[in-house]
Amino acid sequence: MSSFRIAVFASGQGSNCRAIHDAIVNGKLNAEIALIVSNNPDAGVLAWAFENGLTHICIASEQFEDKKQFHETLLKTLALHRIQMIVLAGYMKKIGLPLIEAYPNKILNIHPALLPAFGGKGMYGEHVHKAIIDYGAKITGVTVHLVDPEYDHGAIVMQKVLEVSDNDTPQTLAERVLALEHQTYYQAVQLFAENKVIVQDRKVFLSKNIL
Ligand code: GRF
Repeated sequence: MSSFRIAVFASGQGSNCRAIHDAIVNGKLNAEIALIVSNNPDAGVLAWAFENGLTHICIASEQFEDKKQFHETLLKTLALHRIQMIVLAGYMKKIGLPLIEAYPNKILNIHPALLPAFGGKGMYGEHVHKAIIDYGAKITGVTVHLVDPEYDHGAIVMQKVLEVSDNDTPQTLAERVLALEHQTYYQAVQLFAENKVIVQDRKVFLSKNIL
């Protein structure tokens, strides 16, 4: 079993979490999903984690008296499971500073567009794909980036592109982009698992040496 222990944070169906799990099972990603965290007790990802025997927990800030207690509990839980990297996969809550400070350059997110275009607050799900079609953009894609205190702003680790066709609707685009996310996200996580990522300011470089 791999020693690179990740926590996947998800609020919905968790198809990206499943794709990461598949990549691990198929030997394409040398990591272990040591914990799945959701803020939504009804999230499909929690039911899937239960069925597949993966360690999971629902922690929502609303359960706590204040944000401080919420973050303390979250950080203790992550430490208990010896988490080395947090992978956001459709987690619908802004990540607070205590987490960003505890995991510097070790929190990843995937966004269903080519940042910095079509990102920021309110740009999630079909809002993104509708905005792309309404704008008349000819290309779109996926962005994997590090998380900093601003929405969809941290250093970019990986981007992949696909063409928008004249016949695309927000729904067809969403399907094609999601499929591309599934092919992309585990590759970015693997770079961290191999300790290949060097971050300087907001630029990400890949070291040639496998450490
Ligand atoms: C994905 O489109 C991802 O880019 C965004 O949220 C969605 C999550 O989908 N951050 P899923 O729950 O992984 O299927």
